[in-house]
Amino acid sequence: MNPGARTMAVYPGSFDPITNGHLDIIARGLSVFDEVTIAILVNAEKQPLFTTEERQDIIREAYAGESRVKVDTFSGLLVDYAEKIGATVIVRGLRAISDFEYEFQMALMNRHLNPRIETVFMMPAERYSYLSSRLVKEVFQLGGDVHELVPPVVERRLRGKYPAPPAPAERRRRRT
Ligand code: PNS
Repeated sequence: MNPGARTMAVYPGSFDPITNGHLDIIARGLSVFDEVTIAILVNAEKQPLFTTEERQDIIREAYAGESRVKVDTFSGLLVDYAEKIGATVIVRGLRAISDFEYEFQMALMNRHLNPRIETVFMMPAERYSYLSSRLVKEVFQLGGDVHELVPPVVERRLRGKYPAPPAPAERRRRRT
């Protein structure tokens, strides 16, 4: 190891949208590594709520002024992307045992593909152990409160995607 060298980590995912659970993992990553690049997978097969550009903008706003956090997109193999940007570590969050099998498979496959890149798992605060982007979207769409689950920029952008249903009085007026 080269003393004084900066350790760059990549934190890959879909981030559709980023949640406070992701932010928690990124904060933990920053306490160990010099720089964390949040890498959004460009996946043509998935039908995301937010476009790749929107997700990138959201994350940039959430980390405005934080020079140790970078935001980027990638396609193809994660290990190739990591090597290209000079990252030697892949950070992944582990919320529960149910995450483990998938994460274990990915980590070992990535190690097989490129043994120079190490995967590091971090556990979020317990209050985020049930949190996922999918549930945030579902709860918001059904009128639930996501205030404590996502950064303010995400709540605002969710409101843009799912405008609030009209109030009952407004609905009555529209019918007449
Ligand atoms: O947030 P997600 O959707 O669980 O993230 C999954 C992600 C982006 C980490 C994973 O799909 C990925 O790394 N895709 C890149 C393709 C790749 O490298 N595949 C081979 C290694 S498993």
